[in-house]
Amino acid sequence: MDVSTKAIHAGAAAAVTGEAVLSPLVPATSFHAHPDAVGFSAADLTTAAPHFYARWSNPTTELLENRLAALDGGEAALVFGSGMAAVSGLFLNLLKAGDHLVLSDVSYAGVAELAHEILPRWGIAVTAVDTSDLAAVEAAIRPETRLVHVETPANPILRLSDIAGIAALTRPRGIPLSVDSTMATPIATRPLDLGADFVVHSLTKYACGHGDALGGVVVGRRDAIAELRRFAGIHLGATLSPFAAWLILRGLETLPARMALHEKNAAAVVAFLRDHPRVTAAWWPGSPDHPQAEIARRQMKNFSGMLAFRAADDLALARQIAERVKVFSYAVSLGKTRSLLFHIPTEDILRTSFHLEGAAAQAYRDVTGTGTFRVSVGLEDPADLIADLEQALA
Ligand SMILES: Cc1ncc(COP(=O)(O)O)c(C=O)c1O
Repeated sequence: MDVSTKAIHAGAAAAVTGEAVLSPLVPATSFHAHPDAVGFSAADLTTAAPHFYARWSNPTTELLENRLAALDGGEAALVFGSGMAAVSGLFLNLLKAGDHLVLSDVSYAGVAELAHEILPRWGIAVTAVDTSDLAAVEAAIRPETRLVHVETPANPILRLSDIAGIAALTRPRGIPLSVDSTMATPIATRPLDLGADFVVHSLTKYACGHGDALGGVVVGRRDAIAELRRFAGIHLGATLSPFAAWLILRGLETLPARMALHEKNAAAVVAFLRDHPRVTAAWWPGSPDHPQAEIARRQMKNFSGMLAFRAADDLALARQIAERVKVFSYAVSLGKTRSLLFHIPTEDILRTSFHLEGAAAQAYRDVTGTGTFRVSVGLEDPADLIADLEQALA
């Protein structure tokens, strides 16, 4: 099946006459148990009794898991209550005291803060590197490295990392590679096909698409996902609500069509921004002069609706844009039908989230100046989006 068909049909049971032509929403928290079930242990999850208690599994969350696994070409998936729950569940399942994590030095702020502020409390060492540089990734790997985690495109500057190139470093060493592919979505990139062991998405973003449900997912091999389910689902309780799963299933049906339109609109908006006299720089993975344009062409089938720009390195102008936009919402998050933008001051994010110093901090400053706008281009008419930016920048 093509991805557009999978987004609507993958994982669904065969049609039954008289049943609704819609993904079923089953809000139940417990299920009639198999008589052999002996207690409340996580070990009681059997194929004979597919559902037991909703922290283990539920028919609606399971349908979403099967659909997401099919979209990313993985054997199995586990959905979580948020993208952060997916990342933290994966990290804490794979890492223990004495282990070492290598991660992208520029990544979603919540992930960066988890890595720099929380993991060291559990005795886990962390090295943040520019994962667009394969030599830097190789140099960061230590004998005790137990996970390499890459975000591509990376928040907020859309830096790209070569997944196949990094997998060629991690695979021979037996180190799992996880890829946060939230901004690419399975429509653009399938990291497992490129050698990654796990794919992570915040489903809150493009997958849901309507900004009305939080969610996250990890896709990978069946045995690894079963272990993750016991750890993060059953014991940590990071479970997704069936209603949120149902909203995300509804959103997924239009994901391929939405991504095509997000990409088309982003191309128009970035072209306008690049010609504007008050815009110092604008980046989009589809631009031929994106710093990793060659990687974009190789590993992205769709360039997504995310872009970033610098407005004359003038904080007063940044404030003016935030105050004046009308079609765009000045708001965080991304991947919604509505266009969003948000200003990220460079020194703030370096200090509070990335914890970068020296050459690594300077490399980020060289890209972003005093600050950058992260833009999630939505599905409105591009002429209306451009007119809105024009009056905001005037
Ligand atoms: C790339 C990326 N990963 C993970 C997350 C966290 O997802 P959530 O907000 O669903 O917890 C985000 C949120 O913005 C994100 O952009």
